[in-house]
Amino acid sequence: MNQETLPIVTLDGPAGVGKSTLARRLAGVLGWPYLDTGAMFRTLALRLGADAAALPEAVLRARCAALSFALCGCGETTRLLCDGAEVGEEIRTEQVGHMAAQLGACPVVRDCLKQAQRRLGAQSPLVAEGRDMGTEVFPVARYKFFLDADPEVRAARRCAELQAKGMQADLATVAAQIRERDQLDRNRAVAPLRPAPDALIVDTSSRSIDEVLAVLLHAVKSGSTGK
Ligand code: DC
Repeated sequence: MNQETLPIVTLDGPAGVGKSTLARRLAGVLGWPYLDTGAMFRTLALRLGADAAALPEAVLRARCAALSFALCGCGETTRLLCDGAEVGEEIRTEQVGHMAAQLGACPVVRDCLKQAQRRLGAQSPLVAEGRDMGTEVFPVARYKFFLDADPEVRAARRCAELQAKGMQADLATVAAQIRERDQLDRNRAVAPLRPAPDALIVDTSSRSIDEVLAVLLHAVKSGSTGK
């Protein structure tokens, strides 16, 4: 099926803006699967290792192409599988996130994952979150959002999230990591983080998750974003 005919919601934005939570909640309300594309980059980073970005292009392409991704279920309980196994919490460390951002600068990696993401988007409606969903992967998605928030707010949220998971986190360190990740994500040559021209930009700095969700749902229902 042509991706142009599929209902797809794209949610893009920088680290710590609340994309994953919102994508999951939105998918829950719509009853659609959600795709966390950061989790795909993180899984590749973990499986291929820190030095993968320096591999010869053909080798890197073959290694990426050898991994297969699938979605299981829908709504808030959608699970991402890699080679049939559920992707777990081991990908959620800052170190893996940093490696994922480095791998994300490799055109060949982006190309392989774009194909995998489009395959998933061709199978069912989708809430897809990441950095380039509305610009590169699903440019003709029906609904597009770009979430943003002040870096200090994002750092505080990320810090609280890590602490809630029992991980150690201090605000100054997390803020520095967020700045570094912004730098990598916004300035890479291929598919840099930026809003699609037809995306609705939503600043989440002073809004709760429920408030942002209401804005997104209203835009989806009224068709005031995307194609
Ligand atoms: O959303 P996240 O923090 O889990 O993503 C980790 C990194 O993966 C992010 O800093 C850059 C990369 N990434 C990307 O390049 N493109 C995407 N669509 C999603 C993530």
